[in-house]
Amino acid sequence: MSNKGRTVIVTGAANGIGRSTALAFSQEEAHVVIADIDKEKGYELEKMIREKNGRAIFVETDISDSGSVTAMVQKTVSLYGHIDILVNNAGISTFTKFFDLSVSAWEKVINVNLRGAFLCSQSAAVVMKSHDGGAIINIASTRALMSEPGSEAYAASKGGLLALTHAMAASLAEYRITVNAISPGWIHTGDYTTLRGIDHNQHLSRRVGKPEDIARACLFLAHPDNNFITGENLVIDGGMTRKMIYEE
Ligand code: NAI
Repeated sequence: MSNKGRTVIVTGAANGIGRSTALAFSQEEAHVVIADIDKEKGYELEKMIREKNGRAIFVETDISDSGSVTAMVQKTVSLYGHIDILVNNAGISTFTKFFDLSVSAWEKVINVNLRGAFLCSQSAAVVMKSHDGGAIINIASTRALMSEPGSEAYAASKGGLLALTHAMAASLAEYRITVNAISPGWIHTGDYTTLRGIDHNQHLSRRVGKPEDIARACLFLAHPDNNFITGENLVIDGGMTRKMIYEE
């Protein structure tokens, strides 16, 4: 079974990893909901998928706002009837020196990256559990596991997302809903040709990641044959978190 005819919501799908993921699902003839705050890029992707005879709709959504999330899920159900897959991809990052990090900057990152994933999951799971279950995929980060200075809000949001993943996997198991995380490392969403040799060679894989690397993993985790995988965190980083570094 491919994803043909299945309904997938991808948050933050107007750009970067989310866009690539939405395209990958549409190539498998899934019905794609592009949930994003970026109207221009969102409608552009909707148009692109429809021109290739795919089924897609852009729904302007602020995932940190519960009313906006509820409206997006209601629109999805009224159009496609059910929800099979939710990819919680939308995220923001602010890197600020620890002593300069304001409460409002902290809350903004946590509210989008963590509260947003919770709100979308809760709303979508209500629909999934009344049908045949489903798959929720949370896009975390290797920064949930390791850090550079000044990344407190982002790292905490992604660490929280990993904990939310296994908690929801436990709560939603009885409804046949799997919940997994993907932790990307360096995924270059801009012009890949601008990358330098040192960028690629510091990875065990000898290359920087591409959005498609994450999109393919989403297809894998969403596939019903793979429903023995739940509560897991799949690190996709070209081996960077496995690389031992000694300073000389
Ligand atoms: P991006 O900035 O290219 O795309 C993020 C999308 O989320 C944008 O379309 C933006 O409009 C949308 N968005 C932001 N706030 C939103 C909100 N409140 N409601 C709805 N949509 C909102 O980011 P990228 O690089 O594609 O990252 C996607 C996800 O992957 C993020 O969660 C990010 O933290 C994670 N990630 C990315 C890595 C990378 O190297 N690119 C590495 C590790 C994790």
